[in-house]
Amino acid sequence: MLKTGTFTRRGLGTLLAAGLLAGGLVGCANSDTGGDSGDGGDGSGNGTIVLGFSQVGAESGWRTANTTSVKEAAAEAGIELKFDDAQQKQENQIKAIRNFIQQKVDVIAFSPVVESGWDTVLKEAKDADIPVILTDRAVDSADTSLYKTFIGSDFVKEGRLSGEWLVEEKKAATGPVNIVELQGTTGSAPANDRKKGFAEAIAANPNLKIVASQSGDFTRAGGKQVMEQFLKANPKIDVLFAHNDDMGLGALEAITAAGKVPGKDITIITIDAVKDGMQALADGKFNFIAECSPLLGPQLMDLVKKVHAGESVPTRVETEETTFTQEQAKAALPTRKY
Ligand code: AHR
Repeated sequence: MLKTGTFTRRGLGTLLAAGLLAGGLVGCANSDTGGDSGDGGDGSGNGTIVLGFSQVGAESGWRTANTTSVKEAAAEAGIELKFDDAQQKQENQIKAIRNFIQQKVDVIAFSPVVESGWDTVLKEAKDADIPVILTDRAVDSADTSLYKTFIGSDFVKEGRLSGEWLVEEKKAATGPVNIVELQGTTGSAPANDRKKGFAEAIAANPNLKIVASQSGDFTRAGGKQVMEQFLKANPKIDVLFAHNDDMGLGALEAITAAGKVPGKDITIITIDAVKDGMQALADGKFNFIAECSPLLGPQLMDLVKKVHAGESVPTRVETEETTFTQEQAKAALPTRKY
């Protein structure tokens, strides 16, 4: 358990800086001092850091792995975690953040369900002198002083890597290649950014055309339902680009039910690389996955300790990720953690 009484704030911050550097962090320093209730925020006077964390929901395998990572890392770091599941609703997240402010937690972290509409509540946290860390998803607030840092993935890059693989895969195509796209939650950073990165990459080959694009809300049920509609409305679908594994897995059911062979009749590209997705890739039902790591917990807790200690933190902390072909998935599956 972290006892702030045992260390000076600055000395503690120096120790923690080593941990952040070891985690391979990138970005520029933001050295504003964070809020501090002096008693860890729990009113107990025992110095335990209290973290309020508002999670998006439980929409996907990725999200479940992310929640486990955050909970385990908090316990490991001796940080008291107040966890709230927003069930994919922005109003629930705003309510949870206001509750955390009222409870005077030491630090707030949240994974914003959508990018817009956070300025008011973030200002309330800033006025209460409670530092905020964006986890996994970004916000589009022009005022970047409303949060201390962001930790997560480069979603544009994930979309771009997916598109670049497809450009190479279909380079011999002489006619139109019809692509359908299953977008993530409308207005969310991963949906916006993956769409953008993918579109930019496939522009390299004018044969590659997105003929339908709709949200499946990052869920299996959404992926299945929207893919059924795509299949009814489009007689020729060559490629499915799904913004996450779960929607791709839902779409598999629709594709099979329509009498088509996934991975052969329709090339399938997804993002995340959770176990079920990797299994589908190894089984030849998916063709390519761009990885998005949900294991943000340990680095998040390092950042929580740092902002609580008033130390400088990078403005952006990106996770290192890779991509998988079918052969690479077969090799990676036995040791896959999530
Ligand atoms: O924000 C990360 C995305 O959210 C993951 O790719 C997706 O599976 C999740 O629901």
